[in-house]
Amino acid sequence: MRTKTIAANWKSNASLRESKLIVEEILRGSWSEDREVIIAAPYPYIPNLRSWLSESPIKVAAQDCSQFPQGAYTGEVSSDMLSDLGVEFVILGHSERRAYFKEGSEILSSKIKRALDAGLKIIYCVGETLEERNAGKYKEVVADQLKPTADYEALGPENLILAYEPVWAIGTGETASPEQAEEMHQAIRLVLSNMRETSFAKAVRVLYGGSVKPGNASELFSMYNIDGGLVGGASLVASDFIEIIRS
Ligand code: PGA
Repeated sequence: MRTKTIAANWKSNASLRESKLIVEEILRGSWSEDREVIIAAPYPYIPNLRSWLSESPIKVAAQDCSQFPQGAYTGEVSSDMLSDLGVEFVILGHSERRAYFKEGSEILSSKIKRALDAGLKIIYCVGETLEERNAGKYKEVVADQLKPTADYEALGPENLILAYEPVWAIGTGETASPEQAEEMHQAIRLVLSNMRETSFAKAVRVLYGGSVKPGNASELFSMYNIDGGLVGGASLVASDFIEIIRS
């Protein structure tokens, strides 16, 4: 039985004050205990989130980590620093990192290693662009993006969550239909069972991301292979996020 998981990806949004208000409102919400809820905050707010959420089961994630260990890498945040702050998860391979910071398989494989070494759990994102979808290459692209996760035996369903996020659906208001998303989630499990083992493919959580909102979450999350969502824009509106968690 895979745990339904809802992760907020705040990206580089919200002031510290606004973040506190969002968290306070989320904390007033209620949902069934079988949900795992995660908030991926900007680095500087992580200690605040840890403290605001100290009495809550909501977990804190970082949105990235350095591919390097601690050392002379100005501006980088190492995985050890994150784990020092009590961060449990780190998002890796988000399409915005892939597009704006040119992160490909080699860098992502190093980041996975750093995260694993620091004991962080990984939310690893994959997803095709509209061009790739229209060219009929979407399954191939996603299969290729999944490869770095096969580099490490130590990655298992207990420390890896995947997120399928079609780039054309991120922040655009356009969502993959439940059928389109389910088709990809199924394809992802097939790739994983070939790359690893069927038991791994069956047990690992695969979240959907891309314009998830209260109005489409239930339908998406009711699909057999969709285990919840990675939510950007709607996670900054506490009432919407709560509704999505309840979906
Ligand atoms: P969105 O972002 O919900 O705003 O589309 C999702 C994501 O990028 O993780």
